[in-house]
Order: sequence, then C-alpha cells, then structure tokens
Amino acid sequence: MRILGIETSCDETAAAVVEDGRRVLSDVVSTQIEIHRRWGGVIPELASRNHLLQALPVVDEALAGAKVSLGEVDAIAVTAGPGLIGALLVGVQLAKSLALAVGKPLVAVNHLEGHLLAARLEERAPELPFLGLVVSGGHTSLYEVRADGYRLLGATRDDAAGEAYDKVGKLLGLPYPAGREIDALAQKGDREAIRFPRALPGDNLEFSFSGLKTSVLHHVQAHGMPSGQALADLCASFQEAVCDVLSKKAIQAARGSGLSRLVLCGGVAANSRLRALTTARAQSAGLEVFVPRPRYCTDNGAMIAAAGFHALQRGAPTGLSVKANAGWRLA
Ligand code: KG4
Ligand code: ZN
Repeated sequence: MRILGIETSCDETAAAVVEDGRRVLSDVVSTQIEIHRRWGGVIPELASRNHLLQALPVVDEALAGAKVSLGEVDAIAVTAGPGLIGALLVGVQLAKSLALAVGKPLVAVNHLEGHLLAARLEERAPELPFLGLVVSGGHTSLYEVRADGYRLLGATRDDAAGEAYDKVGKLLGLPYPAGREIDALAQKGDREAIRFPRALPGDNLEFSFSGLKTSVLHHVQAHGMPSGQALADLCASFQEAVCDVLSKKAIQAARGSGLSRLVLCGGVAANSRLRALTTARAQSAGLEVFVPRPRYCTDNGAMIAAAGFHALQRGAPTGLSVKANAGWRLA
C-alpha cells in the first residue's frame, strides 16, 4: 500500500511516498528556516503563506521521486494537528482537494504520532509496544506506544526542550533555530564547566526547562556574553542539563511501564549528546534504544505517511470531513 504523506504543521513543507508504512520511496522537505530566521522564530502568517507557495511543488516532487502518479497512490495522509492552525489548513485543504480529485481515501494524522512512528522507517525498527520520548520545538512528552493506542505518561510543564535550545540560542546571539548550532558548539566544550540545575528530579515524569533558561541568562548577566571556549563550555553545560534529564526520565518511564524498547524522536532527538547518553544509559538498564536518522527526527512527510498507514490499519476513519485541529491531543 503506497501512501502520500503531507506535512505543513509548522515551518517545513514536506511530502513523501511510503510503501506499507516502512519503505520510503521519496521524501521531500522544503524548509522555511531562512524566512523565519530574521525574526528569531516562526511567524505563523509567513509560515501559512509559504506553505501555500510550496505545497503543490513539494507534492509533485515527491510523486516524481517515487515514480508514481497521484492516481497510483492508495491513500493520502495529512497532518491535521497539533500545530499552527493556518499552516495546518494549507496541508489539510490541499490533501482534501487531491483526495477528491482522484477519489482516494484521506486519513488525518496526528503530528506526534508521526514523530513516534518515524523510527519504524529505519531498517532496524522498533516493534510495538515501546516507550516514546517526543522531544521537539513544541513538545517534550513521554508516551507508551501500544498496538491499541497511546498513553501520555508525562510532559513538560513549561517550555519544550527544543524551545529551550532556541531561546538559549537567541540569548547567546546564535541564529534560529539554535539546536544544531548549540549541539556543534557543545562538542568542543566542557560539559562539567557550569553546573546548571536539573528541574523536577525524583520519580515524576514531568519536565521543566524554563528555570534552566533563566539560569543561563543569570550566568550571562554575571559573567558577560561568552565567546570562544567559554561559549562552547556554556553550550556543553546547558546541553548536558537538558540531555541528562531527558534520558533519565525516558529510561525511568520505560522501566516503570515494563517496556524494553525506547524510542527517541522529534527534532531534538537529532542531538548527538542525547543520542549517545541515552544509548549508553539504556544499555546499562537493559533497554533497546531506537533513534531515527536526523532527517526523520525533524519534521518530514515520510513519518506522516507511516503514521497514516498505521492509522488505516487500526481502522481510523477516512473521508473529506478531516478538520485541522491546532490543539489535537494524541492521548
Ligand atoms: O520536530 P521539529 O523539526 O519541529 C517541531 O515539531 O517542533 O523540531 C525542531 C526543534 C527546534 O527547536 C530545533 O532547535 C531542534 O528541534 N533541534 C535540535 C537539533 N536539531 C534540531 N536540538 C538539539 N540538537 C540538535 N541537533
Ligand atoms: Zn515536529
């Protein structure tokens, strides 16, 4: 079964064709990062307008890359939420029009389900059930992922981890989005240079990153704007505080739920330290870790097609009544 997946929930216009939820035939991502960078964050109205310009060419490129016509796909899957409402509407309206034009089933996909199932696009793919940590610009949440559904075990009380990266980057004068840049700088720094606080320690599965962001601000106010090695040390220390908590709680959640597989996903799962630290700690805890390649961690259409396949398999409704829902909760 070949599914065309369409994703426009934030600042990436993406489309892909995936076979049987696993085999990626094409995967096209057009990013708006350069457009939003000068504002230091995503401007919703600009995002919608650019999705409008890019969506059709991106879908065409995905179909051409997969060497199929629209009439040859078996279904269309589109991100219906959560995300920016104007941005979501572009993808949803386009998907409806395409589905109507060729008479194919249309299925709504939750963006977080897309992230959680992205690891299944890899050769070494996790079987269900597993514990999933979605860690992105908008979300930091732990889910039990089972064949019969999702259970939310814990989430952030304030900023998402990616948001903390981006805000700290802004404070340090780094370009938006700062996750990758901080990751690269941190690799040259000393993780122990500054001991930033770890919020909400203990048995709970909640996160908080706004205090950490304030600690970085206080550090800069006290010591001045860092550059050179001091900047690398600050990035490494900040990153350690984020990844220490994320990896500990993900492992704690997996053990608490009796799950032996742990999946990291979402844009921040592209982070080198989070991948390494979690893999090392999980191995000692006897857990198997799965992290998709960075391209499938950040927003893409392949994960939406994979999640669409999964949704169809469990009998999710199809049809043109799909509605964009900015606040759609997975569980
Ligand atoms: O999943 P995603 O592409 O979009 C959302 O659904 O939010 O995630 C984007 C987030 C941004 O905050 C970005 O700074 C962060 O992922 N990010 C990273 C890295 N690459 C992207 N954060 C830390 N380290 C990275 N290597
Ligand atoms: Zn995302």
